[in-house]
Amino acid sequence: MSVSRSPRSGLAAGAPSDAAVPVVAPAPRAHPASPVTPSGGHPTAYAHRGSSGTAPENTAAAFELAIAEGADYIETDVQLSADGELVVIHDVTLPRTTDARMAFADRAPWNVHDFTLAELKRLDAGGWYDDDFVGQRILTIDELLDLLGDRIGLNLELKSPAVNPGLAYAVADRLRRRRDWIEPGARPRPLIVGSFDEQAIRDFHAQLPDVAVSLIAYDVPASGKLTDLAGWVCSVNPDIRRLRPEDVARVIKAGMAVVPWTVDSPEWWRWGVDAGLEGMITNYPYALRNMLRGRDPVPGAAGVVVEDIVHHSPGDESPWAGEHVVLRNASGRPVDVSGWYLRSQSSDRIVVGDGYVIPPGGALRVYTGPGTDDPTTYHNGRTTAVWNGTKGDSAGLHRADGTIVDLYAYVV
Ligand code: G3P
Ligand code: CA
Repeated sequence: MSVSRSPRSGLAAGAPSDAAVPVVAPAPRAHPASPVTPSGGHPTAYAHRGSSGTAPENTAAAFELAIAEGADYIETDVQLSADGELVVIHDVTLPRTTDARMAFADRAPWNVHDFTLAELKRLDAGGWYDDDFVGQRILTIDELLDLLGDRIGLNLELKSPAVNPGLAYAVADRLRRRRDWIEPGARPRPLIVGSFDEQAIRDFHAQLPDVAVSLIAYDVPASGKLTDLAGWVCSVNPDIRRLRPEDVARVIKAGMAVVPWTVDSPEWWRWGVDAGLEGMITNYPYALRNMLRGRDPVPGAAGVVVEDIVHHSPGDESPWAGEHVVLRNASGRPVDVSGWYLRSQSSDRIVVGDGYVIPPGGALRVYTGPGTDDPTTYHNGRTTAVWNGTKGDSAGLHRADGTIVDLYAYVV
């Protein structure tokens, strides 16, 4: 489970701001006491889109699982439907995580904001992930708040305000009707509202100054900027792949917490503890919780590990062709991996065919694309790439029954 840590720079920081809404932002007000206090002396576990390593992201199933697994916070995304309802979904288009292409074949490109709530409610939001989850629906924000109750904290991302004009105001309006979510001290873990879009969190903060806000970013901002933010922002959420210990120290020195995304390997979790992170956003909250309590992160480990992911390079003509995962049997006995599968960070699934047994010390290469199978290679026959070749990715290795046996992450 090697992890390369090579923070890179140069990506654009965040989406453009919500220009369609006139904004008169009052002077920023100091944020309430940091809500992201570590639980029991170790970092808090944020379930990214729910427990999305083992259930379809941003569904009731993923949120219930995260609660059952003992996550401290749910991290999730909110957008606007065509009729102005607040809905819980990550992508600005529907096809990756719903059956929209089938249900509304003539509505390309299936933008979330082109569909009414009634239409969104007709979509299946679980079957794309696994047959076991057919019937999951896109939730409204009220359904989300009702489901969570006071069982867990909530870190709500205002997703893509540039294509959801007025989102910050709509969320603030809705929360005003849910006093139990915004009164200081009303919840065991206070609500945190974040965005990549600084103007959106300024707008939100101007509406509800008692609610904690966070700035999501690729890189930690420059120190002068951190000083500006520290008066009203409680935490910074940077990309773990680009985060350096000195960045963490700068944010803490400025008076804010550091809670990066998406931290999906035991090596990174250990790094995060050493670096002084106040929380980590992960698709695998139960494994993070295990590690933080001194247990095996993945109790079901079977001796087979993800040794390497050979991903495509930007510009490859057929990026799926050479892509493969190397599974290594590090145990002293043969392991039958028939039907095992890997999930990428965005929940894409790559499988192992029937009849594959890896001998002790041996390896199996599981290809994304087409090819001729033999005892040491299996091909998925796909014509789209799976593993992120520009930033990095992570992989959960699952037995056929879904149990996770290894977690692996890499940086490009
Ligand atoms: O909380 C930050 C993280 O969720 C941002 O990434 O794309 O998963 O919303 P994304
Ligand atoms: Ca998010």
